[in-house]
Amino acid sequence: MLTDAQFDRVVRYVKIHYGIDLSQKRILVNGRLETHFLHNGYDSFEEFMSKAEMDFQGAESKGLIDALTTNHTYFLREQAHFEYLRQVILPYLKVKEEKTRDLGIWSAASSTGEEPYTLAMVVSDFFGLEAANWDTRILATDISTRVLEHAVKGVYLKEQIDPLPEIWKRRYFINHGEEYAVRDELKKQLIFRRFNLMDEFPFKRKFHVVFLRNVMIYFNDDVKYRLIDKIYRFMEPGGYLIIGATESLDKNRIQFQYVQPSIYRKKE
Ligand SMILES: C[S@@+](CC[C@H](N)C(=O)[O-])C[C@H]1O[C@@H](n2cnc3c(N)ncnc32)[C@H](O)[C@@H]1O
Repeated sequence: MLTDAQFDRVVRYVKIHYGIDLSQKRILVNGRLETHFLHNGYDSFEEFMSKAEMDFQGAESKGLIDALTTNHTYFLREQAHFEYLRQVILPYLKVKEEKTRDLGIWSAASSTGEEPYTLAMVVSDFFGLEAANWDTRILATDISTRVLEHAVKGVYLKEQIDPLPEIWKRRYFINHGEEYAVRDELKKQLIFRRFNLMDEFPFKRKFHVVFLRNVMIYFNDDVKYRLIDKIYRFMEPGGYLIIGATESLDKNRIQFQYVQPSIYRKKE
């Protein structure tokens, strides 16, 4: 069980480096760290935290964020967003980018991969045979190394891919008994990277679509609106930002135009 001072130290660290506010999550922090220490053989909190504080890129820091992030996700979560992408966003972009044939899509808190793979399936389906003529970059990023490794592997249990249409299961997965592996042709459309949303954006090109779903709930308002401003600057005019269905943005604090709940757009 962490003392008050130890709990405050963890909360401060995670807030400063990752923007995540755990100040009201004492039970979660206690439980997750206890398990992490047990599984990894750490017995001194002081030693662990000192290492994490000294080396931000080290194993302790990565382990800490792996342990403390909540990575819940599933295929076709908030399905209406993918329908909107298929019916409204992609038809618009297909016309708009007819000459460049270039599309940048970012799943900015991609967790174990269900969201970016779903994006890739929607895009593949939409372009069909024309896909080869389009340069569709789907970038999937997350701060947790553990979930990224899972995403890169692209192996899911049968019950996890159950929500997907049969045709997608056949087209985009290879069945190995109880497990389904994402086919290489689909994987090739994605780039997975570890990226902290608090950092400066290193991207060379702007995005047409950004999915930033179910991550802002962990940030306080200052962090959240600073991030939204950064994303705005890295979006193409007319580009769409999709946030989680239970999240919201105050229209007086953003440059994006409101389209409908959880869907925003940069002015054309
Ligand atoms: C609940 S999951 C959301 C997954 C997916 N977007 C969805 O809606 O199903 C939230 C993810 O945000 C990631 N995350 C939290 N803070 C982050 C940060 N500062 N930078 C990048 N990713 C972060 C976590 O590691 C976690 O995988």
